Amino acid sequence: MKFAPRQSLLFLIVAFLLNTLFVCAQTPPGAPTQNKGLMAEQAFKNVKVLKGIPVDEFMATMGFFSSSLAENCLYCHVLESAGDWAKFGEDNAHKNRARGMIAMVNNINKTYFGGRREITCYSCHRGGQKPKITPSIAELYGPVPPDDTPDAMVKALPKATDPNKIIDKYIAAIGGTDKIATIKTFYAKGIYQGFADDRVPYEQWGKAPNQHSLVVHGGSGDSTTTFNGTAGWTAVPDTERPIQVADMTGGAIDGARLDGELFFPSRIKQVVKDMRTLLPTTINDRDVVLVQGTVDGKYPVDLYFDEETGLLRRSLRYADTAVGFAPTQVDYEDYRDVAGVKMPFKRTIYWLDGRAIVETSEIQANVAVADAKFAKPTAPKTNRVSK
Ligand code: HEC
Ligand code: HEC
Repeated sequence: MKFAPRQSLLFLIVAFLLNTLFVCAQTPPGAPTQNKGLMAEQAFKNVKVLKGIPVDEFMATMGFFSSSLAENCLYCHVLESAGDWAKFGEDNAHKNRARGMIAMVNNINKTYFGGRREITCYSCHRGGQKPKITPSIAELYGPVPPDDTPDAMVKALPKATDPNKIIDKYIAAIGGTDKIATIKTFYAKGIYQGFADDRVPYEQWGKAPNQHSLVVHGGSGDSTTTFNGTAGWTAVPDTERPIQVADMTGGAIDGARLDGELFFPSRIKQVVKDMRTLLPTTINDRDVVLVQGTVDGKYPVDLYFDEETGLLRRSLRYADTAVGFAPTQVDYEDYRDVAGVKMPFKRTIYWLDGRAIVETSEIQANVAVADAKFAKPTAPKTNRVSK
């Protein structure tokens, strides 16, 4: 992975965004984009370019910048920003340079690509401060890096297995439609580990067909993510983000919906439309088949199923930001039986500026879960003693 040598730098970013962005994905499946949320220029004091986008998308854009240059937040923000959100409003040379780059990118796309977003920060920077100028012999003759981001809709392979059959095999592998339908709610708990390597307890509740709520009991306070079927929110301690309670908008709502559907996976064929089977590949040396579809009609959702067992190994989806798509990948492992249905007890969630490992120790099916669990959370108390 590109980030490996810089993980310590990235830690800084992650401390801010832990728990808050992993639900990012894409825009709704025909559902209304009703939830506009607070706009960046209303929430922050020095927004000159990225106006008219909601706070969650603005923060995802910051993640897009950081990952495109493989730099942490403090590269473009004054050093005092570490620990003081107000200081993010101050300008420095790199921040101003980045503003100019946004204008340049918009201009290139407008002038040369008919306004289509063909060029983003990543197109040039590829994880570096200064884009490379000369083709590299070492790269040319070295091993071909895996192309893990099918960020465009790809044509179906001719003569490929019908994607519906792959989904059917998965449904059968986890217990079958009837068994899945008997699970109406669940309560799960275990350990949540962010980039900082802190292992903290988490709890999660789900209600069919797609509601869910995650509470991570972190050292500086509880971080909560809820999705009620149409709207979602995140609430974090004030050390983690400038805006404590944020609405999910556009892409984040779609990602939360997909996550919810995958907890109760009987409706995949209805929720993921235009499915097609793409080139098979491998994950950790296991052969997997790749089904691509779309939830909102615009961006792809990629579902990787183990060729042999039929189980879902990975989901990959994209959220829109002001400058480009932000992918979120979830890897599923350690399937165990819960009331006759196989559920993954380990999930590793990767987003542009963070990663979380969710290790489940226990899942109870069909416990009573109040609808209030999925409602908008309130701002948690920030515990300043521990850090
Ligand atoms: C490549 C440069 C770059 C990186 C890296 C970057 N930012 Fe920014 N950030 C900007 C720019 C540019 C603006 C101002 C945008 C505008 O004027 O519309 C900004 C504005 C902000 C603001 C609004 C501050 C205010 O009060 O006006 C916050 C908060 C913020 N960034 C947080 C972050 C976080 C957190 C990270 C790390 C995930 C990050 N940024 C990484 C360039 C960057
Ligand atoms: C068309 C190619 C291209 C694109 C697209 C691009 N950049 Fe750049 N960027 C460059 C080049 C080339 C430099 C270095 C120029 C130099 O050294 O003076 C640079 C430099 C920078 C720097 C200053 C780095 C330093 O160490 O001084 C920042 C910050 C930056 N870019 C941010 C961005 C952001 C954010 C985006 C997306 C909105 C972006 N760039 C898109 C080509 C690009």
